[in-house]
Amino acid sequence: MLMHGKGRVPLSERVPKEIKKEIERLVKELNYHCYRYYVLDSPVISDEEYDRLYRHLKELEERYNYVLPDSPTQRVGAPPLDRFEKVRHTEPMLSLDNALSYEEVVEFDRRVRRFLDTEEELEYTVEPKYDGLAIELTYRGGLLYRASTRGDGYEGEDVTQNIRTIRSVPLKIELAGRVPEEIDIRGEVYMDIEEFEALNREREEKGEPLFANPRNAAAGSVRQLDPSITASRKLHLACYGIGAVKGMEFGSQWEFIMWLKEARFPIPAIVRLRKGVRGVIEAIKEIEEKHTTFPFETDGAVVKVNDFELQRRLGVKTREPRWAIAYKFPAHQGTTRIKEIIPSVGRTGVITPVAVLEPVRIGGVTVSRSTLHNWDEIKRKDIRVGDTVVVERAGDVIPHVVMVVKEKRTGKERPFPIPERCPVCGARVVREEGEVAARCVGLNCPAQVQERIRHFASRGAMDIEGLGEKNVELLYSRGLIRHFVDLYRLKKEDLLELPRFAEKSARNLIDAIERSKETTLARFLYALGILHVGEYAARLLAKNFRRLEDLYNVSPERIVRIKQMGEKIARSVAAFFNDPENIKTLETLKSLGLRITNPDYEKGRKERLPLEGLTFVITGTLPRPRKEVEELIEGLGGHAASTVSRSTDYLVVGEGPGSKLQKARALGVKTVTYDELLEMTGRG
Ligand code: IVH
Repeated sequence: MLMHGKGRVPLSERVPKEIKKEIERLVKELNYHCYRYYVLDSPVISDEEYDRLYRHLKELEERYNYVLPDSPTQRVGAPPLDRFEKVRHTEPMLSLDNALSYEEVVEFDRRVRRFLDTEEELEYTVEPKYDGLAIELTYRGGLLYRASTRGDGYEGEDVTQNIRTIRSVPLKIELAGRVPEEIDIRGEVYMDIEEFEALNREREEKGEPLFANPRNAAAGSVRQLDPSITASRKLHLACYGIGAVKGMEFGSQWEFIMWLKEARFPIPAIVRLRKGVRGVIEAIKEIEEKHTTFPFETDGAVVKVNDFELQRRLGVKTREPRWAIAYKFPAHQGTTRIKEIIPSVGRTGVITPVAVLEPVRIGGVTVSRSTLHNWDEIKRKDIRVGDTVVVERAGDVIPHVVMVVKEKRTGKERPFPIPERCPVCGARVVREEGEVAARCVGLNCPAQVQERIRHFASRGAMDIEGLGEKNVELLYSRGLIRHFVDLYRLKKEDLLELPRFAEKSARNLIDAIERSKETTLARFLYALGILHVGEYAARLLAKNFRRLEDLYNVSPERIVRIKQMGEKIARSVAAFFNDPENIKTLETLKSLGLRITNPDYEKGRKERLPLEGLTFVITGTLPRPRKEVEELIEGLGGHAASTVSRSTDYLVVGEGPGSKLQKARALGVKTVTYDELLEMTGRG
């Protein structure tokens, strides 16, 4: 069974034997390394080495038009679809009954044994419950034939081309002698929490709607008509179930899981086999304890009768099997009362309403504050001062109010409107059309200033260790810093006068500030706290501008030409770099010893066409016809315009230039000769 390249001509007969062998060897080797990297998380070769082998395979495949169906090159490159085909599952994909306490698990075990009419202790498997999207993988003759979503349990959608892009999904079952003719393997596609957060940050910067949780992000990524989008999301798979199978038999869940593992499928992070319900509850506790350290979200543990024959006897009641149950971890929620709501001012002036709560213990932690996000949220949930509310604390994130317990209202609760004046500086508070956020317009608002300094010093920014919220507040209140520039003017002696500093701590802070002078453009741009410029956008800018100075007076049009940059960010960046006061601040920082390197630019250059994002105008006679030069510029990603304006990057000057040259000079547009242009394209 072969797939063919573009021509789809069965040329395999004409491929020399040793080439076939070489291709087969490369596919095997690459698939093995893919497995080491994506399933076992323990690679044995470097990324460069992998890329080298991959490129070699790709060249041979193209040259000889000989492509194996499990070749790693077949994971990407499928064209977008118009719609998904429907797929009927041979065996329905069921859902699970929940147990909300250990007692309910004991009750489940009792039910199972009563049904089977046995007093004996039964064997169960226990696995984490993955919070993702259920998928069925169908293999025929050992090759991945189709992947489908669960849908309504009976009929799902064909998402094969998307699932192929997930590197941990085997394209072929590699197990000598123990490959079923046909098998449906079920599992969960999920996204790690960190990956989900990074994706959302990126989307926020681009002004795209955010995903509510990793599950939605995973589902949204799989249900994409364009597989290149799925390929760009880091998705994982955990296989835990079996559907229809032909040509082989499995006796139990444990046996099946062990087979999956041997066949190089990713299996759940923990799978335990236990005899008797006590052991089951111990395994649940183990998973409950460990689950907060998992990189992915789990909201429970799944308990399954191990023996497949017993499973068959137990059967299904409507939609849930009698042989399995999902134990749900207690949600990290508590009920308490909102004592007051206080507006808190952030570095961009955004005012966030924060609820001050009557302290409540949730999951072993005392919670006394909760963010209310913004006034839309307050309105949507109808939150008032004095309300009794359900508060949720998930992981390390700031607790949030889930809902108001309206039955507890006494009539004394008061709504909390947007304040007219900033609670810190007294300036006006505005809320612009179409914006969710209310902002303080006071430029010198101390809250904003302190928050901006704290952001400047924070981890992903200038990374000044020891300069957290408390120290910023202290330095600010003593008048030692009014702006982040002042950090570089601080002396050890200044610090020694403060209550919290002694010789050593003062030295440490001054050293940390000194070290931060050595930084990268991406970090520095992020540290500046330009509106809408998060870490991702800052890196993108660094990839496209070699030096900080290249951003001075930049036009929004120039920024928008960068792939992935939206207009909102472009306007904000341009506004920042066209403000003479800001430029002065940057120059002051440089004069205080800031040294900015830009390792990202090199990376950006590799990802980009040589003239990408640049606008050229031609004047005078060039050695080659003008049309040809324009085509060269456009072909290399540049834009050839006919009139000089502020957004022109270069004027290409030939013999006998016209008035465009004067205009360029007047506007400060750079000029290049034809030879210099060729040099820029790498052809000189
Ligand atoms: S077994 C009949 N095992 O939970 C049993 N399901 O609520 C079917 N899930 O649709 C599934 N982790 O998407 C099983 N270790 C696990 C699971 C798991 C997550 C999901 C699955 C299923 C849903 C049922």
